[in-house]
Formats: sequence, C-alpha cells, structure tokens
Amino acid sequence: MLLHTPRLVLRNFIDADLEYFVAYRNVPEVAMYQGWRLPYTREQGLEFLHEMKDMESPKQGRWLQLAIELKETGEMIGDVGVRIHDQDAHQAGIGFTIAPAHWRHGYAVEAITALLEFLFEDIGLHRVSADCDTENTASWHTLEKAGFRQEAHFVESFPMGQGYGSEYYYGMLRREWLARKNMG
Ligand SMILES: CC(C)(COP(=O)(O)OP(=O)(O)OC[C@H]1O[C@@H](n2cnc3c(N)ncnc32)[C@H](O)[C@@H]1OP(=O)(O)O)[C@@H](O)C(=O)NCCC(=O)NCCS
Repeated sequence: MLLHTPRLVLRNFIDADLEYFVAYRNVPEVAMYQGWRLPYTREQGLEFLHEMKDMESPKQGRWLQLAIELKETGEMIGDVGVRIHDQDAHQAGIGFTIAPAHWRHGYAVEAITALLEFLFEDIGLHRVSADCDTENTASWHTLEKAGFRQEAHFVESFPMGQGYGSEYYYGMLRREWLARKNMG
C-alpha cells in the first residue's frame, strides 16, 4: 500500500525499518499509553515486520500498520494502523505513533488525514473510530485536529497500575468526512 501527502509517504514496512521502529517503541513516553510492554525487543520487532509483510490492504480483525516516511529525507518517522472490525466490514479503528524527534510538526494529523481519505473514499468505510487514555493529551488533540468527534468518556474504565485509567472514544462518519472536505 502506498499513500502520499505533501510531506509524507505512508507505505508498507521494510526490513530496514527494524532498528528505528524498535528504538521509538522503547521510548517510555511513546509506550506509556500503548498496548506493548517495555522493553520492546528486537525479536518482537522482527515478528511485527514479518506479520506486516503479507498485508497489502486492510483486513477484518487484523491490524495493518503502515510506516510513515518523510519525503524530504527518506527517514521513517512513525506508523499508522488500521483494523477493520470483525463484525462489520464497513467500520475500522485506527492508531498512530510518531517518533519523539518529530513531534509537533503536524505529521500525525497529515498521516491520519491521508489514511482517512483512503478509508472513506477508496474503500468506502462508513465509520472510523479511535480511543485513547484521557491523560494522553497529544493523542486526543491530534484526533480533534484531524476532525474526529468525541463520542464517549469512560471514567476509570480499565485497570492501570494500582488503580484505573479513563478513556475517550472518538468517531468520524463518512458523511462527516465528506462535509469537512467540502468545507475546505
Ligand atoms: C500522539 C502523537 C502521534 C502526535 O504526533 P504529532 O506528530 O506530534 O502530532 P501533530 O504535530 O500532528 O499535532 C496534532 C495536534 O496535537 C497537538 N499536540 C501534539 N502533541 C501535543 C502535546 N504533547 N500536548 C498538547 N498538544 C499536543 C498539536 O499542537 C496539534 O494541535 P494544534 O495544531 O491545534 O496545535 C505523538 O505524540 C505520539 O506518537 N505519542 C506517543 C504514541 C501515542 O500515544 N499514540 C496514540 C495512541 S492512542
């Protein structure tokens, strides 16, 4: 898969991404609100790359992660993921990570926007959703900047450390995407 934005290319992972991918997955601030535990080993990275290799397009019930590459330098700077729902092939969830050296340059929003365009316009999804820890300000700011609408605030809804964490859920419908696009 290949998606272009003014500054980025979203593409399948390649073997050469391994070192940098494992490096940013091991940054505590990156891993803090994500599904993997630290340390994230080279073996886990290799297994991840292997899993992604046969994924040419989004599939029901499996995450497809795409590497984000900077056009100007060719550097891989992060990834976006999409998972089509098991129960409904017209809905998907997304996730995203940018390596800390590249935070706050608008890359996450740019990559998510390209992914949404693909999901709504090329494969005609009805709804795309995302969720995040309420303390992950960067994540929910990014979702709101990309045009997502907050749908839920679950308070102390999942076990975290010695206590419970809270979550925001966000969604976007195809018609909302199209209306936003037409507004320019
Ligand atoms: C979330 C993440 C991908 C954002 O990447 P990014 O490229 O820095 O985001 P952008 O530059 O596109 O910024 C998008 C918006 O979020 C805001 N934002 C980004 N980081 C922020 C932070 N730490 N605090 C407050 N706002 C922040 C930006 O200011 C921007 O809004 P604005 O244009 O209105 O100012 C990045 O912080 C990250 O990888 N975090 C760790 C992984 C993670 O938690 N992923 C999400 C899992 S749910």
